[in-house]
Amino acid sequence: MKILVVGASGRVGGDLVKQLLADEHQVIGTTRQKEKLFDNDSYTQLDLDITASKDSIEKQLDQDIDAVYFVAGSGGKNVLEVDLHGAVKTMQAAQDKGIKRYIMLSTVFSLQTDKWEENPGISDLKEYYICKHYADHWLVNNSTLDYTIVQPGALKERAGTGKITIDDTSSGENAIEDVATTLAAVLTADNTIGKVFNMHNGDSDINEAITTV
Ligand SMILES: NC(=O)c1ccc[n+]([C@@H]2O[C@H](COP(=O)([O-])OP(=O)(O)OC[C@H]3O[C@@H](n4cnc5c(N)ncnc54)[C@H](OP(=O)(O)O)[C@@H]3O)[C@@H](O)[C@H]2O)c1
Repeated sequence: MKILVVGASGRVGGDLVKQLLADEHQVIGTTRQKEKLFDNDSYTQLDLDITASKDSIEKQLDQDIDAVYFVAGSGGKNVLEVDLHGAVKTMQAAQDKGIKRYIMLSTVFSLQTDKWEENPGISDLKEYYICKHYADHWLVNNSTLDYTIVQPGALKERAGTGKITIDDTSSGENAIEDVATTLAAVLTADNTIGKVFNMHNGDSDINEAITTV
C-alpha cells in the first residue's frame, strides 16, 4: 500500500515508518526537516507544514494514497494550529482527495471529558486535551473517512514489549515502539474501522489485542 505518515520525524512517526517499510509498504513521510530521514527505496519525503492552508496541503498529496497516519503534534507549543486545526485540515484534504483510510494517533480519554478531572496528568494538559478532543470529534462526526483513533497514555522511551491492553478504563504507560506496532497493525485490521480505543502496555500480544477492537 502507499501510506502517508504525517509526522514521520517524530518519536512515534520514526518507529512507525520503520515498521511500515518492514511490512513492504511504500511510505511518504512528512517533515519540515530538509534531510531525508530514511534511506530506503520505498521511502519518499514531503516537506509539509500543517499550519499551511487546507488547499496547499491538499495540493501536496498524491491522489493514489491508500491511507494516512496522523502522528504529528506540537508538543504543547502550538496546539490550536497543529494538534487541532492542522489535524483537521489533513482530514479534509484526505477526504477531498478521495483517500478513505485515516488513522489518528490521539491520547487516552480524548473523547471522555468526564475522565479529565479525575486524572491529574490531564488537567495539566487541558488545552492540548481540548484540541485533541475536537480533532477526534471532527474525525468521528464530520468526516466520511474510514477512521481508527488510537489513544495511548504516556509515551515512554524504552524497549517495546509487544504486549498491550486495549479498551481498558484506566490510563497507563506505553513503550513508543509498541504504539508504533499497534498503529501499523491497525492498517490491515478492518475491524478497527470506525473505532476508537485506548491502549497501554499490558498482557496481550498486539495482533491478538487488535482483533478484540
Ligand atoms: N507524549 C506523550 O506522552 C503522549 C501520550 C499520548 C499521545 N501522544 C501523542 O503522540 C503524538 C506524537 O508524539 P511524539 O513524541 O512522537 O511527537 P514528536 O516526537 O514531538 O514529533 C512531532 C512530529 O510532529 C511534526 N510537526 C510538528 N509541527 C508540525 C507542523 N506545523 N507541520 C507538520 N508537522 C509538524 C514534527 O515534524 P517536523 O519534523 O516537521 O518538526 C514531528 O514529526 C503527540 O503529538 C501526542 O499527540 C503523546
